[in-house]
Amino acid sequence: MAIRLGDIAPDFTADTTEGTVRFHEYLGDSWGVLFSHPKDFTPVCTTELGQVAKLKPEFDKRNVKVIGLSVDPVEDHHRWKGDIEETQGTKLNYPLIGDPDRSISEAYDMIHPNANDTLTVRSVFIIGPDKKVKLTITYPASTGRNFDEILRVIDSLQLTAKHSVATPVNWKDGDDVIIVPSLSDEEARKRFPEFETIKPYLRVTKQPR
Ligand code: BEZ
Repeated sequence: MAIRLGDIAPDFTADTTEGTVRFHEYLGDSWGVLFSHPKDFTPVCTTELGQVAKLKPEFDKRNVKVIGLSVDPVEDHHRWKGDIEETQGTKLNYPLIGDPDRSISEAYDMIHPNANDTLTVRSVFIIGPDKKVKLTITYPASTGRNFDEILRVIDSLQLTAKHSVATPVNWKDGDDVIIVPSLSDEEARKRFPEFETIKPYLRVTKQPR
């Protein structure tokens, strides 16, 4: 069954390039990004895995643990690691799950049989410290993901988890934000004294820190 926003991310124990991982225990109090890629020794996946390794300090800064997955076995991941380092100029610095029995891929609905009946699609799950799924995205095998966008969403999720705000189109860290409609003007004035009302339902304020 498909995983929906607000669901508890299924827990699992997996063989990974960094040893056995118990997923919920691995996440601890951190945020998490679980992402699948279709296959080892493929070009788009090679670039994606290298890019995530380069962005690891950005994920760390946001208290996010990243973990990748494909249905290939961990021994293949280990052989492929050298190619990622050689071609992308960075070492793999986060665990990659081997899921040859597809139990995790199936639990997360990462195999879409009408696209490909054996390989995982490019799924992304962002998981909160409460282990609930905060975002899902699915890309086809032919399109590499934009992991800057994943970081942007994490910035929005972490901000909106703390404050009664939402983020507008194309928002990025530092831009003005929107006050959620459920907050009365009176309450908004207390929390965001300088907010601006463009329409009664469209109130903007500086990004809270
Ligand atoms: C790739 O990563 O390049 C890829 C993987 C599976 C199908 C198509 C492309």
